[in-house]
Amino acid sequence: LRLFSGSANPVLAKEVARYLGMDLGPMVRKQFADGEMYIQIQESIRGCDVYLIQPCCRPVNDHLMELLIIIDACRRASARQITAVIPYYCYARADRKTAGRESITAKLVANLMTEAGANRIVAMDLHSAQIQGYFDIPFDHVYGSPVLLNYLLSKNLPDLVVVSPDVGGVARARAFAKKLNDAPLAIIDKRRQAHNVAEVMNLIGDVEGKTAVLVDDMIDTAGTITEGARLLREQGARQVYACATHAVFSPPAIERLSSGLLEEVIVTNTIPVAEENRFEQLKIVSVANLIGETI
Ligand code: R5P
Repeated sequence: LRLFSGSANPVLAKEVARYLGMDLGPMVRKQFADGEMYIQIQESIRGCDVYLIQPCCRPVNDHLMELLIIIDACRRASARQITAVIPYYCYARADRKTAGRESITAKLVANLMTEAGANRIVAMDLHSAQIQGYFDIPFDHVYGSPVLLNYLLSKNLPDLVVVSPDVGGVARARAFAKKLNDAPLAIIDKRRQAHNVAEVMNLIGDVEGKTAVLVDDMIDTAGTITEGARLLREQGARQVYACATHAVFSPPAIERLSSGLLEEVIVTNTIPVAEENRFEQLKIVSVANLIGETI
């Protein structure tokens, strides 16, 4: 078994390697003057089971292309089995056509991975679980919820209500609520008028005097979470916590999340959060052991 890391999240990859009691394999990565990328695996991997850790986070296209090149390099180096470990699967929200003449980019990404030579995929908290079906190779879908739940349970928060910030996230929030001692569930009816602009319309359920926990797969611009938190406060929630696996954090997420609406923002380290983007209410829990166990 050999483990390699792309450039997207070497800190997480090192943690996974530590959990597995092994070192990351040596790899040279260079960029040509025109932006093209050069990758060379620097040890023999002939006949090996190779695991490549690379979340396809910002810059999404660069990290995706880097992963494809690494997979291709491994295939051409006669690896026996190539597993792409993708803690954050990019383009997951483009999982269907919502209007004519659009791309289903999540499927295109699946085609590219398979075509490059991946034999197995490990991914975490896909935006929609059906993306697994875009692949005809084994796919392990890992949930970050155990580490998020551990953290929340350790806080012993009173009068919990779990809130899904949109209708699409109800199954995820329901599963979360079940593990939080069967906490009640509330649902926000979120409507979007444009990409990356969230508009909260309505709350289904009761949050009055409660500790509300918003649960989502990702926080991108944080419009969904902060508009949701605002609504929950208006509806009488005593405190609002946010939990999400993927800290995408595109501007102006940091300003929004640190504005005081949220007691804490609990995310995992599938995507690295730069030091300068860390704020007081942010808590990052590690998924390294979950990934290590899956490998
Ligand atoms: C959407 O359906 C997703 O589950 C997230 O709620 C969404 O992508 C978050 O985006 P933002 O933080 O930009 O509102």
